[in-house]
Amino acid sequence: MDKNLAKQKILLLRKELEYHNQLYYNKHKNEISDYEYDQKMNNLIDLEKKFPEFNSMNSPSIRVGGKITREFKTIKHSSPMLSLSNTYSEEEIDDFDKRVKKILKINEIEYTCELKFDGVALSIIYSKGKFVRAVTRGDGKKGDEISNNVITIKSLPLEINNDTPEYFEVRGEVFLSKLNFERINKLKIKNNEIAFSNPRNAASGSLKMQNSSIVSKRNLNCYIYSLICENSNIKTHEKSLNYLKKIGFNIPDTYKKCNSINDVKKYIQSWKNKRFSLGVETDGIVIKVNNLYYQKILGNTSKSPRWAIAYKYKAENSKTKIIDIKYQVGRTGAITPVAILNPVQLSGSIVKRASLHNSNEIKRLDIRINDTVIIEKGGEIIPKITGVEINKRAINSSILAFITSCPACGTPLKKIDKQANHYCLNHNKCKPQILGKIEHFISKSAMNIEHIGPETIKGLLNNNIIKDISDLYKIQYENIINLEFKINKNDKIRSLKNKSCKNILTSIKNSKNQPFSNLLFGLGIRYVGKTTAEKLTSYFKNIDTLINASFDEIIFVDEIGDKIADSIISYFSNKENLKLIKRLKTSGLIFHENQSKNESNENKLRDLNFVISGTFTNYSREEIKNEIIINGGKVSSSLSSKTNYLLTGKNIGPKKEIKAIELNIKILSEKDFIKMI
Ligand code: IVH
Repeated sequence: MDKNLAKQKILLLRKELEYHNQLYYNKHKNEISDYEYDQKMNNLIDLEKKFPEFNSMNSPSIRVGGKITREFKTIKHSSPMLSLSNTYSEEEIDDFDKRVKKILKINEIEYTCELKFDGVALSIIYSKGKFVRAVTRGDGKKGDEISNNVITIKSLPLEINNDTPEYFEVRGEVFLSKLNFERINKLKIKNNEIAFSNPRNAASGSLKMQNSSIVSKRNLNCYIYSLICENSNIKTHEKSLNYLKKIGFNIPDTYKKCNSINDVKKYIQSWKNKRFSLGVETDGIVIKVNNLYYQKILGNTSKSPRWAIAYKYKAENSKTKIIDIKYQVGRTGAITPVAILNPVQLSGSIVKRASLHNSNEIKRLDIRINDTVIIEKGGEIIPKITGVEINKRAINSSILAFITSCPACGTPLKKIDKQANHYCLNHNKCKPQILGKIEHFISKSAMNIEHIGPETIKGLLNNNIIKDISDLYKIQYENIINLEFKINKNDKIRSLKNKSCKNILTSIKNSKNQPFSNLLFGLGIRYVGKTTAEKLTSYFKNIDTLINASFDEIIFVDEIGDKIADSIISYFSNKENLKLIKRLKTSGLIFHENQSKNESNENKLRDLNFVISGTFTNYSREEIKNEIIINGGKVSSSLSSKTNYLLTGKNIGPKKEIKAIELNIKILSEKDFIKMI
């Protein structure tokens, strides 16, 4: 394509995509389908790849991420990013109002009230209408530049078409919607990773990730709550929000100008329960003096502005009775006690169950059946039991004895080492474990076998068509046509028809091509999440090397600790598991790293052994170790005749260098190493 035409097309696509971003994320409207949007985005990405001379920091394609930030730059803020002082009562709100009026020597004052969104504070700089950089709050005076991650936030304009001041700053709150938070945590749990405890932690963790492609998939969002700009003729905070909204920033519709402190109190009351129906976590209200000139006069203390205050809602709680305790068996055999509650209204929803996590938690709270308990839903979405009303306890109540055998198969439960959970170790025969394992095996991040839901699996298990994951590959059309199952537990019975059977069989067949790391993850070895599986497969290359690896060899892999290594050793020392792997091998599943994948990784360090010493300028020790492994090399901790290179940074002790010379091992500097890869 001709260069000029390409440029025109690129500019047009950028304009169109940014227009649809703004429409969708800030005005919640749709003019094109997701499919059309994706097509336009792919077109743009293709053209930008072919014509890199037109690349721009402000292109909407940048929002899909792809940049790696090795180290976040520290940037000083134009003015300190303060925090708000908190209040919890109406009296304190009155005190604030009196203080403000006293300093300003006036009797009437306007406020703007906004919801206080529970996320991470951010400062964003624009120059000539274009995004320049985004910086975290940090210590209030200086923060980390996290632009690569922030530009993945689609509601944030990268280029503003309206007239704007030459240079301005906006501040706001980055957050994750409740739905996205749940989606991310579900995925984390599925991948055997530790879930985030609340959306705020999830947002803050995401913003500090080094790979912006992953951040982009988290779907962060950002509300802007202030404009900092010299020589502006905007006179009130309310007007500055209106202006920001007009030029394309994401301003929530929930702010309101209040003419008196009584109106402020009404606003607080009106959001007390309504806030739970919002898609985002809020933990209070921010009350701001509306007149910007008054704000200037009031000024700040060293910690917080005198012109604003936060009203925090106390965590909501309710009381109810525990009717029963049920025990759930997870796919790893972990037993989770769940309190079955007398249904109760709490923060806008009806709560019927609450997880008690493990026996320690039951002991800590001394929970018993028929107890009246306090359940809370504070910042968190999941209700939790925070206490027991001991004075309401019946005299004949007895201490709750944790079950001693599996509720599903009757096997005696075991507590492993210092772990909090009890486990059913009948891993290969206990029904909920088998069901859970199959669900995990067929999941998207593992073997990606579609068209089979939990109820179909139950149908397959109940009809003895499968007993474990390896049987999936033996299923024949005749076995499953007319198989009876239910879509949902309470649905009427359905049966598998021709098309569904064919879809299932095709999907099972296609899954044989899933890479080794997906397969290893799919086996469901405790603590082996997706990332760990990837690390293990790229290090050990095939299943037999991994099966035969010693504890020391396994912990040698980057980020693999004792707990994971123990679990791997224990999994492969179980004969049943080895037989299962043999059956899967016979069915043609890939238990080795794909050769072509290695080559495309440019395995420049294949079979080379490195020892690392000292500190490096461009990498942390972990990062340089990773770089070697990614490129096919190995890292050892001590020099031996098998070592090919001693990779040296700063502050290396002389002993290692002398030994390397004695053993005739090449000594590499960090620069040499970078050249090498
Ligand atoms: S105004 C003091 N407005 O609350 C600086 N802050 O302790 C003025 N926050 O982390 C902040 N929603 O990021 C303001 N509508 C809102 C807010 C808000 C959330 C956060 C802010 C900061 C904390 C203040």
